[in-house]
Order: sequence, then C-alpha cells, then structure tokens
Amino acid sequence: MSTTELRSDTPAPGAVADVDWWRGAAIYQVYPRSFADQNGDGTGDLAGVRARLPYLRDLGIDAIWFTPWYPSPMADGGYDVADYRSIDPLFGDLAEAERLISEALEFGIRTIIDVVPNHVSDQHAWFRAALVAGPDSPERERFWFRDGRGEHGELPPNGWESEFGGQAWSRVIGADGVPEQWYLHLFAPGQPDLNWGHPDVLREHEEILRFWFDRGVCGIRIDSAALVAKDADLPEVADEHHPGNHPYVDRDELQGIYRSWRVIAESYGPERVLIGEIWLPDAERFARYLRPDVLHSAFNFDFMASPWDATALRASIEQTLDVHAKVGAPATWVLSNHDVTRPVTRYGRVDTSFSFDAKRFGTPTDLALGTRRARAAALLAMALPGAYYLYQGEELGLPEVEDLPLHLIDDPMHARSGGVDPGRDGCRIPLPWSGNRPPYGFSPNGHRGETWLPQPADWAAFTAQAQAMDAASMLSLYRDALRLRRDLPALGSGSLSWRDLGPDVLAFARDDGFVSVTNFSGGPVDLPAFDRIWLTSAPLEGGRLPADASAWLEST
Ligand code: GLC
Repeated sequence: MSTTELRSDTPAPGAVADVDWWRGAAIYQVYPRSFADQNGDGTGDLAGVRARLPYLRDLGIDAIWFTPWYPSPMADGGYDVADYRSIDPLFGDLAEAERLISEALEFGIRTIIDVVPNHVSDQHAWFRAALVAGPDSPERERFWFRDGRGEHGELPPNGWESEFGGQAWSRVIGADGVPEQWYLHLFAPGQPDLNWGHPDVLREHEEILRFWFDRGVCGIRIDSAALVAKDADLPEVADEHHPGNHPYVDRDELQGIYRSWRVIAESYGPERVLIGEIWLPDAERFARYLRPDVLHSAFNFDFMASPWDATALRASIEQTLDVHAKVGAPATWVLSNHDVTRPVTRYGRVDTSFSFDAKRFGTPTDLALGTRRARAAALLAMALPGAYYLYQGEELGLPEVEDLPLHLIDDPMHARSGGVDPGRDGCRIPLPWSGNRPPYGFSPNGHRGETWLPQPADWAAFTAQAQAMDAASMLSLYRDALRLRRDLPALGSGSLSWRDLGPDVLAFARDDGFVSVTNFSGGPVDLPAFDRIWLTSAPLEGGRLPADASAWLEST
C-alpha cells in the first residue's frame, strides 16, 4: 500500500465515506494477543486478524480498535510501548499492519489504534537514555525523576499510589549497584510516566499521530487520557481537590494538549477521530473533554459499571445523554473491554456493578442468569443513541475465566495486589473459533502447543463455528442486532424519548417508531402495542416479555 493513497482528503471507499461515521458506529475491540494465531506460536497476530476480516464484516461492525500492537516487553499487555513506529514481532511487522488497515477498509471496516501518552516502556529509547545519563540530565527531564526523601533518599518522593497497587515510585539502582533517584510510574514499574511539561513529549506524540494517520488509521484511542498531566510540584493527594487541580487526575492543562491533537486529526479530515479512555465520576468534568475542539468521543464507563437495575441504568443513561447533548458529542455505550469482568459473569452475581477494587477470587456466579441479562443488556445498549463498543468474545458470550493457574497469571494487577485481585487475564483468554478442544481453532490445525493463556476444556459450545449454526446463540443475537443497527436509520446517533411502562421496565422510542423495551422486574410484562417485533433477547412467554429480557419493536 502506498501511504499517500489513504491520506487526508482521499475519500474512503464505499460505505465508510461518511464523515460522521463515528457518531453511531459499532466498534469492535481486538486484543491482538488473544484474537487469532496464524503462525502457530500460541499468541494471536495480525495475520490472524487479516484471516478473520470476513467474520468481522459478517458481524456488522464499522471499525476495529486494536489495543497496543507495538514492540513491548509486555509488562502490561503491550500498554508499555517501546517503539511507536513499529509492530511487535509477536504480532507481525509494519508492512503487515499497513496491509491489514487497507484490507479492512476494503471490507468497509476502519482502524482505530491505541496511543498511551501517560507512559512508555522502561525499554523505550528515551528511558534507557535517561537511566544512562544520570541525575539532573536533560534526558531525565522527559520523565519524573526525583531524589528520595529521608536521610539517604530511601523514601519515595511522595506518597502517590500506583493504579495497580503499591507505591507509584521505583528507585533506580546505578551501574555500580548504588541506589540513586526514584522515577514515577502511575501503573507498573515497567511503565515510567512521561513529563507532559516537556516540549519533546508533546512533539513526539504529534509525530506519532501523524505517523499512523498517514498509514490510514481513522481513529486514536487515548489510553488513561485523564491522568497524563501532573502538577510539577508533585504535592500529596488530599481528600478534596478543586476540579482541575488534583495532582494528576483530570488537570485543566489536558484540554490544551488534546486541542493540539484535535488540530492534527482535523488536518487529515473530519472522519479522523480521537477517543478518550476517561474514568471520571463527575459527568460534567467528563464532558469537558468532548467539547467540539477537544476529543470527539470517550468511553462511557458509568453505564458499564452500573448494576443491572432499571433505576440505576436509567439515571446513568439520562445523565449521559444530558451532558453529551450540552457539548454536541455523541454518547458511547460499552459493556466490556480488556480490563473488566466479562458481562455474562458480572450480571450473574449478587453485586452486578463493576469496580476494580471489588474483584475477588471465588465470587459466586449464576452464568445462566448472567447470560440472559447480558443478552438483554446488549439490545438495550445497542438501541441507545450513539456509538457502541464491543470487546472480542462479548459476541460469543464468553464468561470470565476465573480458575487460571496462579503461576500463569500475567497481569501486573494480580501480583501488585499481593495476589488478592485476580487481575484481568480472565477476560483475555484466546478466542475459541472452532472444534471441540483447545486451541479451538485459535492456533492453526494440528497445533499442539499451549496458547499464551490456557483455554478452558469446556468451551466447545462457545466457538464462533458452533454459534454461527445456532439461531439462539449469543453470536446470532449480536449479528442480528448489529445488522439492524446498520439497516434501521432510527438506530445509531440521534435522540430518544422515554415510554413509561413502570419502574422496573426501561422503554424508549427512537425515530420511525422504533421502540426498545427491557424488563428488569422479576416476572413477565406486557409489551406496548406493536406492528412488528424486530428482535428479542429471549422468546416471549405467552406474548409477554420475560424477566431479564429486551425486545426491539416497531410501534407506530
Ligand atoms: C488503560 C488500559 C489498561 C492499562 C492501563 C495502563 O486503563 O485499558 O489495560 O493497563 O491503561 O496503560
């Protein structure tokens, strides 16, 4: 592919020429390590994704978001990037990524990549140079190196805590074996935080954006987008901070950083978009990132983390639509990603909400109930106004794998919690594609080696092949729903009006008489008058919508 073919003003082919595509898109998250393995090493790769593009087209998605695919020591599953201008050899090479981007476009599928501005890998050239150059060097100014407190500098510079548990500082041991300065890492020690007050950091990221926009990517997912800027005085975190003035969360100067990114995205045309990973409890502060000259879009984690409860979900939906409308941005709806417990597992528990702090081994789960609710949740979320993000395996209804042998758990969240938190590997298991036993078509036929994380012995019924032939499967539900999202102009971006069917039912109309109904009550409920049923998540019972089910209706 010649990179100029896909540049800026070149119209994208066919169905993807729409500049507002992202406002109502269905975007599928690929975790490359676990999607499909073409070369037989037990780890997914880009050739595996290329081979499965027909599957993704048939699923009915508009774009793929790839979690980081760059060279990385994998201290945090690739979120420790060593070099943004290349592809990890585990996954392929740059030429293969270029082929994948252009082949996907031929299938009408755009590509979104992940950029991780908060930190790089400790193997990144900048950090290695900083270690060699020593204290007070210009190389160290791109990071947060500080002397320790205490008589011998033996205490970290402040008490900030890592998002993964433990302290957010590690001490450098010099070549002579003598401990010297400390460096900041809000995540794992292999992920040193960058200093966004440094002009090199800003310039480098602008070049990274251009590098990938030049190669035809249509969007950038911005990792940990609200944590990137720091108060250079590195003050302690207090109980309360004025909005915008926390030492490292949601600082006001982030708006200027992302405005400069927006200018670059716009220079490539209105269809190139910036999507923030923004976890903030304050919806108004969240929406500031979505003003017309800042980011285009951000993940709606409030909805994702809400319990399976009509009142809580309605409150989340109303607040979401309200704050997005004020800034003219489309809402997004998310049920899962590579960081959170799989929905069929989450919704099968006594506590159906999600929080990182609450994750524990051995939480009792009713998977049949959780699956029923996850089906209903998918139709609810896909009927709401805005974009829908789905994470690989969600369409197969995969459960969280909770019995991985402890020594195989790779996610740093597990070890840094002292082994209390199971970590996130349970939602990152290699996908089951076909067949009756591991590797279920994930690796090539005849492959006998282990996949990088082991797959359960009882996943034969979850394979894409088995589900494709079963009209009642999760895959069939997702295919039908995503196809209707494409076919019915009422779905995707737009607005909704609530219909009152009682406190335990969420019902709303979109344009053209499209109505979505979700039943949270313990028993069946009557549906409103309808002309036709587009889709239900469970069979009706005597013409009524059963508990924990959704229906899509035409009702004029
Ligand atoms: C984001 C990613 C997560 C990663 C973290 C640090 O939250 O989604 O997987 O561990 O950032 O980069």
